[in-house]
Amino acid sequence: MAAQGIRGTFVDFVDDPWRHVGDEQAATRFFRDGLLVVEDGIVVDHGPAEEVAPRHPGLPITEIRDRLILPGFIDGHIHVPQTRVLGAYGEQLLPWLEKWVFPEERRYSDPGYALEGTRRFFDTLLASGTTTCQAFTTADPAFTRVVFEEATRRNMRIITGVTAIDQNAPEWFTRSPEAFYDAATELIAEFHGVGRNLYAITPRFAYGASPALLETCRRLRDEHPGVWVHTHISENPSEIAGVLALHGGSADYLGVYEKYGLVGERFTGGHGVWLSDDELRRMSEAGAAVTFCPCSNLYLGSGLFRLGKVTDPERRVLTSFGTDMGGGNRFSMLNVLEDAYKVGMLNNTLLDGSVDPSRQNLAEAERNKLSPYRAFYAITRGSAEALYIDDRVGSFDIGREADFVVLDWTGGPPAAAWHASLYTDGRGPETLDEAAELLFAIMMVGDDRAVAETWVAGQRTYARDGA
Ligand code: GUN
Ligand code: ZN
Repeated sequence: MAAQGIRGTFVDFVDDPWRHVGDEQAATRFFRDGLLVVEDGIVVDHGPAEEVAPRHPGLPITEIRDRLILPGFIDGHIHVPQTRVLGAYGEQLLPWLEKWVFPEERRYSDPGYALEGTRRFFDTLLASGTTTCQAFTTADPAFTRVVFEEATRRNMRIITGVTAIDQNAPEWFTRSPEAFYDAATELIAEFHGVGRNLYAITPRFAYGASPALLETCRRLRDEHPGVWVHTHISENPSEIAGVLALHGGSADYLGVYEKYGLVGERFTGGHGVWLSDDELRRMSEAGAAVTFCPCSNLYLGSGLFRLGKVTDPERRVLTSFGTDMGGGNRFSMLNVLEDAYKVGMLNNTLLDGSVDPSRQNLAEAERNKLSPYRAFYAITRGSAEALYIDDRVGSFDIGREADFVVLDWTGGPPAAAWHASLYTDGRGPETLDEAAELLFAIMMVGDDRAVAETWVAGQRTYARDGA
């Protein structure tokens, strides 16, 4: 396919802003008048338009004005078959699963329902600016195949796999370790590394897995060392108590997954709200990742994830951000940033030393604050690094897949445009400072109406205004 250019204002990240406390701009790249050159869905050139354009005479160029262009958002942890059940009333994790989630997910064994739900899922992701996700399906291999096929049809990057669950769920929802092994083996052969698909061995959670099922996960990992591992960890106190009762030999939640050789690079545990300092240290050393899911952690009342702890430079834990939709009641990573910001502020009340000086921790409190630099790094390059796909997505580096989102700082409630005009008098950003102010306005006041366009591998696949 011939090369094409996209000209506009670009923001992306070259490093982790938490490594640049006090000078986060050093981790950021900003071209007020930039040009992105894409060929066969891949970024082949990027920089200031006046430098890049002369290198590509005759290049057809799409001009995008009065917008901010960022790498497509990455959702590190989401559930395809919960698309219709988000916003369910009244329960915390375990009764919520029993009452709302398992019955809804069962419906995806009907092929027509599976296809309809999966299409609605991807349509809503794209309308939210999310171009890559690491997703749960169910224990049903046919439905998992539908998800891979639909992602393939849209040429979207996805990490997913058939779910392993054989305990603590209704009999009609579980599958034996042997059935799981056969399904996973077949799906890995068919989809892993094919197009933009990546496969994850996906034990739902240790509470739903017998030792034999986790042993099967280990066997799959040994047989396919290149695949990913995706699960839940330390989300809710009742769940944790259940895990320790079920897997008596392990001292803590992480220890269960360690026992079966699952914790290492390309491992993600969703939530991790209650991980101890020692578990975080072990994850850091193993190169394993956690996903911060603030919408879900608040919605299900699971707890306050300590961002300032996982970003401790002495013990940095790779961290993606995720909606966990439908445990989270939103599809949009902008809502994730909004709630993550509020969680940071609440955690800082807990770290305030006014009442109890022993709780004061100024360094952690500083890291809890979700600046726009940290925020948009976290849902682009940061999540890509945590998922070990930063060589493919998450930035505008040369060679990356050209997934990007076009943001409109006036998109949101009726007063959003007026609010944003507080920073730049209604004009576009001229400096990175101004761009950061508009990005903060988008994450705190805007919503998915701020997503004007979403592009996947160099093709526009969503336009808010229907253009
Ligand atoms: N733990 C096991 N299954 C689930 C799920 O579907 N959602 C969340 N949030 N936690 C889980
Ligand atoms: Zn989840």
